[in-house]
Amino acid sequence: KVVPVILCGGGGKRLWPASRGQYPKQFLKLTGELSLFQATADRVRDRGRFEAPIVVANREYRFIVEEQLEEIGIAPDTILLEPAARNTAPALAAAAMYATDRVADAIMLVQPADHMIANAGAFESTVQTAAAAAAKSYLVTLGMQPTSAETGYGYIKLGEALEAGVHSVANFIEKPDRETAERLVSSGDYLWNSGMFVFPAALLIDEVNIHIPAISEVVRRSFDERRTEGRFCYLSDAFNSAQSISVDYAVMERTRRAIVVPGAMSWTDVGSWDALWAVGEKDQHGNVRVGEAVLVNARGNYVRSSGPLVAILGVSDLAVVVTDDAVLVAPRAASQDVRKIVEELDARS
Ligand code: GDD
Ligand code: MG
Repeated sequence: KVVPVILCGGGGKRLWPASRGQYPKQFLKLTGELSLFQATADRVRDRGRFEAPIVVANREYRFIVEEQLEEIGIAPDTILLEPAARNTAPALAAAAMYATDRVADAIMLVQPADHMIANAGAFESTVQTAAAAAAKSYLVTLGMQPTSAETGYGYIKLGEALEAGVHSVANFIEKPDRETAERLVSSGDYLWNSGMFVFPAALLIDEVNIHIPAISEVVRRSFDERRTEGRFCYLSDAFNSAQSISVDYAVMERTRRAIVVPGAMSWTDVGSWDALWAVGEKDQHGNVRVGEAVLVNARGNYVRSSGPLVAILGVSDLAVVVTDDAVLVAPRAASQDVRKIVEELDARS
């Protein structure tokens, strides 16, 4: 059985102004009754197949995490709490230390909490294939067939087939620029990195040690100095001095142990307003509306309001998002850059 590790410590900057530092996107009920985080935990709730999850989050989110799990009746193994966000490499190193502490040869299934997956059966069979491959001492990433030249994703060049449904990774390119992304997609040789991984926990620790030893050291210290309170496990402040870097840059781009299992499920990273438009229910003019909105002569817009009536006239392909205290208007195509607004606001305060 694999141990799900749910990453939910991100800031969700690209979904501003709905997503805020205090309450980021993974905890919002964006598309249905469950938040993305709840849907992620729900996907691995079958204890016949999966161990209880390790949830890794920022300290700030501990009560949201606890409450949202309780709401759907899931008991985590632990809620591992970071004193500060240091991106996914330190978070996963800490999770791997916790997992190996429990079971020396634990295999972890890394799940970002910001994905939508339509087909649960396909997800399970892909994970099964990946877990069997990982057990042979590999870092497995689940790859997805690309459908557009996304710059927000990592790209994997497929190497030779190792066995049915398992390939070596010829090359791993995290977040290319637009031109490169277009070239990678049209070559037909690349898959998207889904950000879902299956890792032997001990191997991840070794690889972090090899490629980014400074992280290993401080995370180990913060783990050894941890404080446990019920389900909460607080990493010590030593964690704060870890370099902030994602596992993609820190390990996946560098390791020689990477392999890829192409995923059979339909998958979306709900990272931007454009992505929410793509998965949303559209009217006959291709507009998606959530909340009170009137649209006249308008096509292909994503309009969301948490209260005020929003009127849209004669414009196309915009994202218009209205909350109680902020309004965003942007071309849908610029959705990835919404994070720059948040960074600008952070710099001012
Ligand atoms: N605990 C914790 N701590 N979680 C974090 C932190 C952190 O400091 N930073 C990010 N996360 C969580 C986010 O909440 C999210 O669930 C997940 O880790 C991935 O982070 P993102 O910030 O959403 O990454 P990304 O979407 O830009 O890129 C990754 O995912 C893409 C596909 O969705 C990469 O793996 C890409 O290669 C990949 O294509
Ligand atoms: Mg993401």
